[in-house]
Amino acid sequence: MKTILVAGGAGYIGSHMVVHLIENGYNVIVADNLSTGHRAAVKDAPLYVGDIRDAAFLDRIFSENSIDGVINFAACSLVGESVKKPLKYYANNVMGSVSMLDAMRRHGVDKIVFSSTAATYGEPEKQPIEEGDRTEPTNPYGATKLAIEEMLKWSSEAYGIRYAALRYFNAAGAAPEHGIGEDHAPETHLIPIVLQAALGKRSHIGIFGQDYPTPDGTCIRDYIHVKDLARAHHLALEHLENGGESGVFNLGSGTGYSVKEIVDSARRITGRPIPAKIEPRRPGDPSTLIAANKKAEAVLGFKPQYDLDVILADAWAWHSGHPDGFGDRA
Ligand code: UFG
Repeated sequence: MKTILVAGGAGYIGSHMVVHLIENGYNVIVADNLSTGHRAAVKDAPLYVGDIRDAAFLDRIFSENSIDGVINFAACSLVGESVKKPLKYYANNVMGSVSMLDAMRRHGVDKIVFSSTAATYGEPEKQPIEEGDRTEPTNPYGATKLAIEEMLKWSSEAYGIRYAALRYFNAAGAAPEHGIGEDHAPETHLIPIVLQAALGKRSHIGIFGQDYPTPDGTCIRDYIHVKDLARAHHLALEHLENGGESGVFNLGSGTGYSVKEIVDSARRITGRPIPAKIEPRRPGDPSTLIAANKKAEAVLGFKPQYDLDVILADAWAWHSGHPDGFGDRA
């Protein structure tokens, strides 16, 4: 049985990864500092609580377990916060990955699947966005992820560590059957905020701008089910296990939905009215982000299975069953 270290495995995407790997016969070890993750999100795997920047912490994990590969989700991931606190993002994200790669080098582990982001592209040149398109991040969050992608490339040449860097578009949905879903504080993402409005926990959803150059004037994004993301990481891991080449891959559905379309679909799925108000644009939002997803399909054999209705229905099942999330905040 292969053993995978999932760093950031108590977080939103990480916890879905852990469940997926266990279901697929892997032995899973979780490392998380619980700064944004939830102890209750880790159900059936040992959890090491600590910071991946701490070399002694990683040495303990790699010495106590025979790790075959690493999936690294551990990072700060709020675009707005990154603009205000860039050093926090460099310290956490870049230094965390330096520390992880160095531990892998010391312990002879040669495979890593890394959480990257569509924010590496910045304002896109064209739609859908391909992996070879210009990468000019417009915020420190995207810049740190791009810096780590570069570091992976050089580390692969120098130390033989092979990698898949997965650029997610908009992760959404939940796995209500496993009692896990999205719980951020503060919440900034569209779908959970819309569902909190459906639950009456917010008075309304603010739509950030309706003067974008899109058919209904609101921003268009490419939403991908968190369970599809987990399966894509598994396929990327298998690709590396089978000797496949390192690379960067977009993970998206290839289909875009506007903010208004999300609100309308959520009204239909939840049967709730969901009041909406037009508000000013949020600084730094590109008008449209849609993934070209053919590379992940051709190289990894990945095709998303779940459409927007499933994403919303699963997220709704989680949020309506857990109106206070994991209930671990004061
Ligand atoms: N939006 C609203 N109202 C809200 C919240 C969001 O109108 O209350 C809009 C945003 O303006 C945007 C869309 O909904 O147009 C989606 O916003 P999210 O915050 O859910 O997601 P982003 O597209 O801003 O961010 C996502 C990931 C980031 C990643 C980024 C890449 O969450 O981690 O894509 O650009 F960096």
